[in-house]
Amino acid sequence: MSTSLVETKKLFIETLGCAMNVRDSEHMIAELNEKESYELTEKSEEADLIIINTCSVREKPVHKLFSELGVFKKKKKEGAKIGVCGCTASHLGKEIIQRAPYVNFVLGARNISKITEVLHKDKAVEIDINYDESEFAFKDFRTSPYKAYINISIGCDKACTFCIVPKTRGDEISIPTDLIINEVKRVVATGVKEIFLLGQNVNNYGRRFSDNHEKVNFTELLRRVSEVEEVERIRFTSPHPLHMDDEFIEEFASNDKICNQMHIPLQSGSTKILKEMKRGYSREWFLNRIEKLRDLLPEVSISTDIIVAFPGESDEDFEETIDLVRQVKFNQLFSFKYSARPHTEAENYTNTVDPEVASARLTFLQNLQDEIIDERTPTYLDKTYDVYFEALRSDGYISGRTATGILLKVKGSEELLGTTKAVKVIKTGRAVQEGEVLT
Ligand code: 5AD
Ligand code: SF4
Repeated sequence: MSTSLVETKKLFIETLGCAMNVRDSEHMIAELNEKESYELTEKSEEADLIIINTCSVREKPVHKLFSELGVFKKKKKEGAKIGVCGCTASHLGKEIIQRAPYVNFVLGARNISKITEVLHKDKAVEIDINYDESEFAFKDFRTSPYKAYINISIGCDKACTFCIVPKTRGDEISIPTDLIINEVKRVVATGVKEIFLLGQNVNNYGRRFSDNHEKVNFTELLRRVSEVEEVERIRFTSPHPLHMDDEFIEEFASNDKICNQMHIPLQSGSTKILKEMKRGYSREWFLNRIEKLRDLLPEVSISTDIIVAFPGESDEDFEETIDLVRQVKFNQLFSFKYSARPHTEAENYTNTVDPEVASARLTFLQNLQDEIIDERTPTYLDKTYDVYFEALRSDGYISGRTATGILLKVKGSEELLGTTKAVKVIKTGRAVQEGEVLT
């Protein structure tokens, strides 16, 4: 961050939700630093400005927001401002200030470029989802010097019946390719080696630009990012199973810079439920895409998201999900109980699943996934992987990931950070593996 002769103020920012929010927070930090001389603090009680960057994908974090706001109100320094940003800001708007009148501003997920404007307008509420951040260019700040998140699109054009995101982030717009490539070049010049492309549906990239830009699809974008010489690793999240065409899978498999790891949100293993969710693909299509991927790349690591107890999910539907999970054996599985969200189609569905049944299904699925992980992790022992080191852990170890996303920690000096080394696994564990550097 830049230093300035102007007296600096302190900013505390809490980021909830997905990688998109992490990047939005980085943008806000950069704008506030450059234009308003804010420096980050990890202590909310010494901050002049407290921001909560919220998520609204499920109901629980929304409830938590108001209790957290109450805590910040008590702890905050005299005169410090509180701002609520992100998806819950988009969804609840002025209701936030009605329920918590000490909140100074509310800024939606699609409006974060206005952060320095709302700061000076008490009780401002900016939540227009049609707002076009057409230059998409913000001041730059990055949490990690080793890995860079880069947005490739904003918003979402899908209409999944469970999902609030199209209402909080608006229609999908692809960011012009030349801006993305310039950003990639800028970050690798600072030493970053891993690029993480972000979008709600990354492989829908190129369907709509805000202006007359060159039509480039996601597969072509991946090629162009990989052509930037200093880029060593490329990851992205999330692709939509529906748009996983052969060309995309083949590029993924053959491009050495693209990491062998993909997060492919399934949501349900029942074609009937997928239809109710308006996902646009069947169980068979999903399985076919996994097969194609694994044919080309047997070592690929696949993670997914599953919602249990969507309205109308019968025992048989749930069994189909379980059967698919047993078949695919995902490397990582994020599972959630369905949570009805406002402004979604499924909100009004009346064939809801009994909450106890829902909890039992979630537990069953999570136990199954633990078994799958416990079966797989011992096979890592004594194997050697290339690990890109990117973090100093609180236990003093240095950690990094393999191309397939396995988290490894080693004893070693901080000089390892930002380098890739061959590491042999000496001890396995569910969440993190311990290794020793060979080279
Ligand atoms: N209820 C439960 N889980 C949801 N997700 C999205 N909306 C809901 C909802 N209404 C899950 C999906 C998505 C992940 C980010 O959150 O699995 O992929
Ligand atoms: Fe990210 Fe969706 Fe949560 Fe918004 S609602 S922060 S887009 S996960």
